[in-house]
Amino acid sequence: MSGQRENWSGRSAFILAAIGSAVGLGNIWRFPYVAYDNGGGAFLLPYLIALFTAAIPLLFLDYAIGHKYQGGAPKAYKKLTPSAEGIGWWQTLVSWVIAVYYAAVIVWAGSYTFFSFGQKWGDDTTTFFVEDYIQHTGELTSSFVPQMFIGLVIIWMIALLVMFGGIRKGIEIANKICIPLLVVLFGIMVFKAINLPGAAEGLNAFFAPNWEKMADPNVWLAAYGHVFFSLSIGFGIMVTFSSYLKRNTNLTGSGLVVAFANSSFEILAGIGIFSALGFMAHATGQDVSEVAKGGVGLAFFVFPQIISTMGESGDIIGFLFFGSLVVAGISSLVSILEVPIAAFQSKFGWSRPKTVALVVGSAAFISIVGFSTGSSLILVDVIDQFSNNVGIVYGGLISIIWVFWFNRNKIPGIIEHMNQISSFKLGSFWSLMLTVVTPVALITTLLFKLVSLFETPYEGYSTPILMIFGWGVLAFLGIGSLILTSAKGKGE
Ligand code: ALA
Repeated sequence: MSGQRENWSGRSAFILAAIGSAVGLGNIWRFPYVAYDNGGGAFLLPYLIALFTAAIPLLFLDYAIGHKYQGGAPKAYKKLTPSAEGIGWWQTLVSWVIAVYYAAVIVWAGSYTFFSFGQKWGDDTTTFFVEDYIQHTGELTSSFVPQMFIGLVIIWMIALLVMFGGIRKGIEIANKICIPLLVVLFGIMVFKAINLPGAAEGLNAFFAPNWEKMADPNVWLAAYGHVFFSLSIGFGIMVTFSSYLKRNTNLTGSGLVVAFANSSFEILAGIGIFSALGFMAHATGQDVSEVAKGGVGLAFFVFPQIISTMGESGDIIGFLFFGSLVVAGISSLVSILEVPIAAFQSKFGWSRPKTVALVVGSAAFISIVGFSTGSSLILVDVIDQFSNNVGIVYGGLISIIWVFWFNRNKIPGIIEHMNQISSFKLGSFWSLMLTVVTPVALITTLLFKLVSLFETPYEGYSTPILMIFGWGVLAFLGIGSLILTSAKGKGE
């Protein structure tokens, strides 16, 4: 039996865990590149608009559903209205899929933390990453990569340990270790980076506005696409986390703290990374635009190159940067895994150990089998593209539409619940945002994305790869949520 639901030891433990979840790989390697590619300083405006018009309103909705209706995401949505259970399962399965590849990126960062000592990547950092380390061949392959296998086993053992521990003895402890460590590691790294010669050039590239870019719809799509993943909303995490909060909690105040912390960290990451890019541009006599490259590349090809330019003192910067990625990644991974654990426990009434063994065990198995091969880069790239930009955005959008378009009679109760003890009161502005502005922005985002994925094969990958790991993942989310919704549960 599931017994009594666990809860956080206090509001600060919840806030810490929510920040631990939000600050992750998305902030450290994704945001700086996305910002740069989408107009540098000009991106900050769409980013802030997306944050205020979509992310924070949805964060409050996630909190409201989790806290008012108490349960894993499917259960909480079902209590809101029975027809919404499938939304919870969609979000749950998105989390499970993300966990499978997220672990692989943590392993890359973990290996690079060690490679930093002595700068093992040598002169050609791209060849080292692609050929020597992950043994990518450009095609799907089942060739075994022992270093990935070992790394994945370690990361999944850590994840299992934390998840078996539960909320207080697992996730809370993990965050008490990870967050201070992250602040120290990353704080020193940013401090060192901004003091490098040439840092100002990089910061200029990051902050200098490029207003022309603002007219490009892709910039807005990138902003809306990024904020959900970054703030951990729309895929069940905040619904689940807030369901473990005691009744009398200031929800909106906590949400604003989390959103502010996440965005501050994101902008700090941009500052650190662009200072380092400026240093490299300065050292090699290139323009910053020539040294700044794409998402995965920025962290694993370009950053090691920057470190190499620093001589021996680069070792410590590498250690701090990749160590931060690992720590931020682990505190996010455990939050992602809590979503399916809470969902299956709520619906089927399984004990936590049984649920962890099945849910985390299955994710670990697939992750280890799939990503210990020379295909890890293809799998991360394709699954991330579809599960984030389509899976998360759709999950967030449908939850908003379900409440604000089709179940408007629930809105007063939700607002009343949120306002009971909250410092920042929700009202008609919040309701207007989620009725009109956010859905319109998200529908546009999603349609543009789907059209572009249909028209142009993503990154030129072959049809079988895209059919299995892209569209196939979306089919899995759809069919899986239908099956789980119709399954007979016996939970709480
Ligand atoms: N919010 C987490 C991240 O940014 C998932 O990586």
